[in-house]
Amino acid sequence: MANLTIRKLDDAIRDELRLRAARNGRSVEDEVRVILRDAAQQQPHEPQTVPRTPLPMLAKSALPAGEPAHGLPRVTLIIGGGIAAYKALDLIRRLKERHIEVRCVLTKAAQQFVTALAASALSHQRVHTDLFDPESEFDAGHIRLARDADLIVVAPATADLMAKMAQGHANDLASAILLAANRPILLAPAMNPLMWNNAATRRNVMQLRRDGVAMVGPNAGEMAEAAEAGVGRMAEPTEIAAAAEHLLRPPRSRPLKGKRVLITAGPTHEAIDPVRYIANRSSGKQGFAIAAAAEAAGADVLLISGPVDLAAPAGVSVTHLESARQMLQRAEAALPVDVAIFAAAVADWRVAHEGEQKLKKAAAGTPRLELVENPDILATISKLRDKRPGLVIGFAAETENLIENAKAKLARKGCDWILANDVSPALGVMGGDRNTVHLLTRNGAEIAVDSWAAMTKEQVAAKLIAHIAKAVEKAS
Ligand code: C5P
Repeated sequence: MANLTIRKLDDAIRDELRLRAARNGRSVEDEVRVILRDAAQQQPHEPQTVPRTPLPMLAKSALPAGEPAHGLPRVTLIIGGGIAAYKALDLIRRLKERHIEVRCVLTKAAQQFVTALAASALSHQRVHTDLFDPESEFDAGHIRLARDADLIVVAPATADLMAKMAQGHANDLASAILLAANRPILLAPAMNPLMWNNAATRRNVMQLRRDGVAMVGPNAGEMAEAAEAGVGRMAEPTEIAAAAEHLLRPPRSRPLKGKRVLITAGPTHEAIDPVRYIANRSSGKQGFAIAAAAEAAGADVLLISGPVDLAAPAGVSVTHLESARQMLQRAEAALPVDVAIFAAAVADWRVAHEGEQKLKKAAAGTPRLELVENPDILATISKLRDKRPGLVIGFAAETENLIENAKAKLARKGCDWILANDVSPALGVMGGDRNTVHLLTRNGAEIAVDSWAAMTKEQVAAKLIAHIAKAVEKAS
């Protein structure tokens, strides 16, 4: 029989194939075999005996960013025994709509209200009901069901289940999973208002909250019991699904949203003639990492870079240029900005008279290069009257007397903060991936020095952006 190469399949079909193989606990190859065999026998190829709603075809690019390495986030949904259990079936759908895998556990009491068959049909997974299940594919089922999830949701969380949890009981599958869990737990309590307000339940709720358990609801409203109303209705499935997603995919904090941040990075190249230039060893890594961190914090980032071998961070527009004078021009054109961070290793000098043609070796001897000072971009922007950014930050790359030199630089350049780092060749900072920095902040005549431990340039960037976010918040 001809071999089938999965790599040659269309992306969407391949993803669907992988998902269904994972759902059915088979390898992709075995799944293909089952499909082919069933097709040949003209039989439906799903293992379940009930009709299943097909999963939406998911292209990888359609999946939310930052999903767990094993694919879609997984929820173990424990359905407790209450009248609201019927809503848990809808909850399965609402979770799956949000691209969350659901594996259901039904308590004994829950099976009085909904069937395992219905939960299995909706979740497309085997449903678990027994602590000692000889059929289970898991060795210690309660441990696997607790650990093989990114979140455990209990809906409805009955008074009895909550009492067991608060006390640490483990005499059935649901309570054993909850006791064995090392993942976040979300409860959607549902019970009669008298039970919810009972002193015992109040104590249990308080204990569970102290234990770090999250809760959604209960809501106020009519009860299933005739003519009864009050707090105790289970939150709606859409509310529970939203709360679950919030825990699984916490919204990124974007403290610099709406702020314009200008960053310079990399070295500059100062031309000697059309083919030669003066340069330095800056890699641009620290500046690019700061740009990425600022973007992640929601800022509108303008990155101006000298010649580097780095890809633009996602979402950041980079202007590439060569010389210090071009860099100053571009920085001025970018104003006004809220924050400016000058991480570029700008050449202090350039050649006074750039050769129009390549300099030739001559019998007259070695050419003499006359140097003139480059404009100081940091000092120029720091001393602006009209468009001075609210916060101006410079770098001090030193090989000796780090702190004293950095303090002097802070005063001389007129910026607000300086990040000082030792760039002695032995430390490998220039071009390396780690940095040891000291943050100097000026408050009137006072200068505070905050020395950070050695860390990656990305960590330095994240820490700097966190400090900036705090300062920006304080100033507004
Ligand atoms: O004077 P020094 O080069 O040590 O100062 C370093 C700081 O000043 C860095 O923040 C660097 O980006 C900035 N700088 C500048 N323009 C220059 C020289 C340095 O913006 N011409």
